[in-house]
Amino acid sequence: MIKPANRETIEEAAGLIREGRLVAFPTETVYGLGADATSGRAVAAVFAAKDRPEFNPLIVHVATAADAERLVRFDDRARRLAAAFWPGALTLVLPRTTACPVSLLAGAGLDTLAVRVPDQPTAQALLRAAGCPIAAPSANRSGEVSPTAAHHVARSLGDAVALILDDGPTRIGVESTVLDLSGRGSAILRHGGVTEEEMAAVIGPLGEAADDGAPKSPGMLSRHYATRIPLRMMATDVRPGEALLAFGPRPLGGACITANLSEAGDLGEAARNLFAMMRELDRPDCAGIAVMPVPDEGLGRAINDRLRRAAHG
Ligand code: TXA
Ligand code: MG
Repeated sequence: MIKPANRETIEEAAGLIREGRLVAFPTETVYGLGADATSGRAVAAVFAAKDRPEFNPLIVHVATAADAERLVRFDDRARRLAAAFWPGALTLVLPRTTACPVSLLAGAGLDTLAVRVPDQPTAQALLRAAGCPIAAPSANRSGEVSPTAAHHVARSLGDAVALILDDGPTRIGVESTVLDLSGRGSAILRHGGVTEEEMAAVIGPLGEAADDGAPKSPGMLSRHYATRIPLRMMATDVRPGEALLAFGPRPLGGACITANLSEAGDLGEAARNLFAMMRELDRPDCAGIAVMPVPDEGLGRAINDRLRRAAHG
C-alpha cells in the first residue's frame, strides 16, 4: 500500500521494519526495499520479494558515518570520502567489523559489506526511528530498472511490501556509486550518483574493477536493467517503428514516440529522467528503442552503463 511520507507513516514504517517486515522508502537515488539488516529472516524476505539470487549482496543503510563505523572497518580513504560525500549517493565496500551485527545473508556471506548514508529526509527519519541498520536493494524485481517513483514500486513488487512510503520522484534518479575499498586499491564496481571526477578530487585517481570474470560486484550481471523491447545506443537515425530516447536540443525525427532525457543536454536532468523514460518507451507496439549518444563523462558514465546493460543481449 502506498502512503504519503509523514511523521505518522514513517513511525508506522519503522515499526514494521522492527517486526521484520518489508518497507519501500525513497532515497535520493532510487526507492529502496528495506528490511532490518540484523534479521536473517527479514533479509531473506527481501531476496524472495525481488527474486534476487542470494549470491548478490545488499547495501546496508545507516543514518550517520558513526553508525557505519560499527559495521565496517574504515581506513583513511574511506573516512575522507565519507566526510566529503555522506550523506549522499556513495556506497563504500569495506571489511566487516568482528562485532558487525548485520546478517551474513545481507552480505551474501562475503567478509565485506556495502554501506551508505542516504541523503533524503524520509530515509533519514526512517533510519533514526527504526534504530537498526536497514538493508535495502532497489525496490524492483531482479532485472528490472530501478524505481524512481512510488508507483513504480507498487507495479513491480505489489503485495510483497507491507508499506510503500511515497515522497515523490527521486532527486538523482540513478543508483549510488559503489566503490570497493576493501583491498589495497580502489575499484569502482558501479558508476552512480557520485561521479568518478568528484571522488578523484578527494582521494586521487581510482582504479576500475579488474575484469577477471569473477563478478566482484555480483549485481553487475550483464543482462540487468532490461527493457522488454530491444534498445540500441549511439543512434544517429531512427529505424521504422522505433521509439526514440533523445538527448539534447535536436532530437532525431521519425520516431513513433519520443522522450527527451534533457533538451538542454544536462546530465543531471537526464539521470533523473532515465528510468521513468525507459519504462515509458518500453512498449510492445514499438519495434525497439533508439538512444541518442550521451556524453561519457560525469553522471553520463552511470547513464551509459545502465543503457549498455539494457542494450545487452
Ligand atoms: O542507490 C542505491 O544504491 C540503491 C538505494 C536503495 O540505496 N540501492 C541499490 O541496491 O541500488 P542494489 O542492491 O540494487 O545494488 C547494490 C549493488 C549491487 O551491484 C551489489 O552487487 C553491490 O552493490 N554490492 C553490495 N554489497 C557488496 C559487496 N560486499 N561487495 C561488492 N559489491 C557489493
Ligand atoms: Mg538494483
